[in-house]
Amino acid sequence: MKNILSPSLLAADFTKLGQQLEQIEKGGAQYIHLDVMDGLFVPNISFGIPVIQSIRKCSKLVFDVHLMIVEPERYVEAFYKAGADILNFHVEATKCPGDVLAKIKSFGLKAGITIKPNTPVSEIVPYLEQVDMVLVMTVEPGFGGQKFMADKMEKVTELMKIREQKNLSFDIEIDGGVTKENVKEILDMGVNVVVAGSAVFGAEDVEKSTREFLNILQEK
Ligand code: DX5
Ligand code: ZN
Repeated sequence: MKNILSPSLLAADFTKLGQQLEQIEKGGAQYIHLDVMDGLFVPNISFGIPVIQSIRKCSKLVFDVHLMIVEPERYVEAFYKAGADILNFHVEATKCPGDVLAKIKSFGLKAGITIKPNTPVSEIVPYLEQVDMVLVMTVEPGFGGQKFMADKMEKVTELMKIREQKNLSFDIEIDGGVTKENVKEILDMGVNVVVAGSAVFGAEDVEKSTREFLNILQEK
């Protein structure tokens, strides 16, 4: 599986979004991770549909949308129209994860299911046949710049086992606290899509920091 970098826009300079997107694209990033927060599912509010719609016009990156909103089923169509390519939602945020996955797929999007640090893999096992991606949180969702929870990587091992047993092929994505220092270890454990916010956009030279990440990702 090819390793992918998905820089999180949450840590970008919002006064120059177009420029920042260009920098990560030049640095070799394949995805852009878009964190949508509603102030209910998580104690923070970020950006939403109009921002995604507008940056869609100036970027060819794969839009990896991470919905941190209650009842994500209400907004699948809106995010499809705004330009999402992958739609990740939290299993804890809906009563009907299977229906949400089916709805996402009905629009031709890739469907991802996400688990918070304290949610066990068993909660998503019934849906794994339907998913293109599993997003494992290694921080409590809501804020960038938090410390990586290494013990949550056990879930990656568990997911890899199930994926093999059931002969499935979903991607495994990690989100929260990823740095150039810990990313190699993360990849070694089986993750193939890596989100990094502050470690990419917090750098003086965003293009350079993206390229440095990519070099590590491609060594693997
Ligand atoms: C947190 C978000 C993350 C966040 C990651 O709720 O889902 O995507 O932006 O930021 P860093 O990489 O700084 O931990
Ligand atoms: Zn995220």
